[in-house]
Amino acid sequence: MSEAPPPGALGPVLVVIPTYDERENLGPVVSRLHAAVPHADVLVVDDASPDGTGALADEMAAADPRVRVLHRTTKEGLGAAYLAGFALALRGEHGVVVEMDADGSHAPEDLPALLDALRDADLVLGSRYVRGGEVVNWPAHRAWLSRGGNLYSRLALGVPIRDLTGGYRAFRRQVLEELDLDEVASQGYCFQVDMAWRAVQAGFRVREVPITFVERERGASKMNRAIVGEALWSVTRWGVQRVLRRDRVRT
Ligand code: GDD
Ligand code: MN
Repeated sequence: MSEAPPPGALGPVLVVIPTYDERENLGPVVSRLHAAVPHADVLVVDDASPDGTGALADEMAAADPRVRVLHRTTKEGLGAAYLAGFALALRGEHGVVVEMDADGSHAPEDLPALLDALRDADLVLGSRYVRGGEVVNWPAHRAWLSRGGNLYSRLALGVPIRDLTGGYRAFRRQVLEELDLDEVASQGYCFQVDMAWRAVQAGFRVREVPITFVERERGASKMNRAIVGEALWSVTRWGVQRVLRRDRVRT
């Protein structure tokens, strides 16, 4: 028996990988992905990386029909890159759309478990903060930012999800079709909270599965103060709106 679910039931799988200066990381991560889930298609969304990641992705696409590249002209953040990728994905035939970082932090070897969990969920979150989940090699300040961000988001939004900010996820196509993606304004990493919160509010079944997040060895994180500021402001706004509506959301 193979561990990876067959492309069958939920349809073909598309893994969207946003890149900005990931030249050293992209090749190895896509190789690992295809070793773990050979039938997965890949869409690289590159924002004109100065280090030439986009050209490398084009070479990979020329050599492998499973790989495609979406080139964007300006760096507009992780959220904007994913939204552009999702719009393209919805024009195709894929039944499952996955979010994965290019830097190896999201182990492609964990993808079969995410896909498996999607059999009885609409959105599966790779989670660092459920039993069996873990973060490896994060400096203390980054670990606290993530823990604090998750605690604040969970309380503000009133959802029982432990890892709302993580970026390793599998969506059933239907979720992306039914959410109004034109309304999603989050540019930075709060895009992840935004999408999970919309899925919960729309009544989709959201499940967490444990992952081990390993901090990148090459290149740099694009996290910065503006991204944290946007997240804090947005989550606060959504939380206030929730209280004003007296929503009681359950998953
Ligand atoms: N195209 C594009 N444009 N890609 C981007 C941009 C952008 O503006 N910003 C970041 N990326 C890509 C990176 O190249 C990488 O592949 C991926 O998005 C994640 O970026 P990192 O900068 O490595 O993120 P991180 O490790 O700090 O944060 C991770 O964990 C967070 C939760 O703790 C990500 O998975 C976040 O999504 C997540 O919220
Ligand atoms: Mn990273």
